Amino acid sequence: MDLTQDDPAARIALIRAHLPLAEVPGLPGLVHHAARPEARVSRLAEKLGTTAEDLAPFWAWLWPGGAGLIHYIRAHPETVQGRVVVDLGAGSGLLAVEAMRHGARRAVCVDPDPMARAACRANAAANGVEVEVAAAIDLAGLDAVELLLAGDVFYDPEVAQASAALLNAAKARGAEVLVGDIGRHCLPKAGLTERAAYEVRDVGDAPSQPPWRVRVMDWPAVPPQLPR
Ligand SMILES: C[S@@+](CC[C@H](N)C(=O)[O-])C[C@H]1O[C@@H](n2cnc3c(N)ncnc32)[C@H](O)[C@@H]1O
Repeated sequence: MDLTQDDPAARIALIRAHLPLAEVPGLPGLVHHAARPEARVSRLAEKLGTTAEDLAPFWAWLWPGGAGLIHYIRAHPETVQGRVVVDLGAGSGLLAVEAMRHGARRAVCVDPDPMARAACRANAAANGVEVEVAAAIDLAGLDAVELLLAGDVFYDPEVAQASAALLNAAKARGAEVLVGDIGRHCLPKAGLTERAAYEVRDVGDAPSQPPWRVRVMDWPAVPPQLPR
């Protein structure tokens, strides 16, 4: 497949063919097309004419920050019910999927990676819901947003900066903004308020490794300082 052409249907078909559905670890009732030893991203990458490394399949599993936000939605479904929700840095789109499963009015997965957007659609269909997808969201688009969820977007300075700008803008427009994070290096050190914390395991963790503590936090109205 020519990666320069954005063909969502072909990307969805490839994901379905190479990454069979599996239950999301620790989250019964939720399924996704996941990378795992017997369903290898390297074979999918080969089909796409690239390498697993260049494919950067951040969408092929749920990250701990996202898992924390899903636990929060399960514990507090009123957070999403009847609301327009944005899943920023959606990856697999499972936050948007869980929001729809718990009664969100609309859920939009925002991710610049076309494979992630295809995964969001495939995972939504697998869970019997529909989500919308977008490569980016502009400030006008934020006006309609009632809840913005950001799971694990503070792993890289550039992504953190772009995400923080949107979180600040959404907050300034009156949206509720929740972040799920294990304390990655680009997360602001001050200003966020913890709402809940969960213990989760990450893909590839050794069984002997202790679980990660993921915090679900309110993004503040006063833009916080990102670490340098
Ligand atoms: C670490 S993954 C987290 C995925 C998901 N939220 C989760 O918790 O499982 C971060 C995602 O952010 C996306 N991303 C990178 N830059 C972005 C940007 N400027 N705006 C929105 N998403 C971005 C990446 O493509 C990737 O899918």
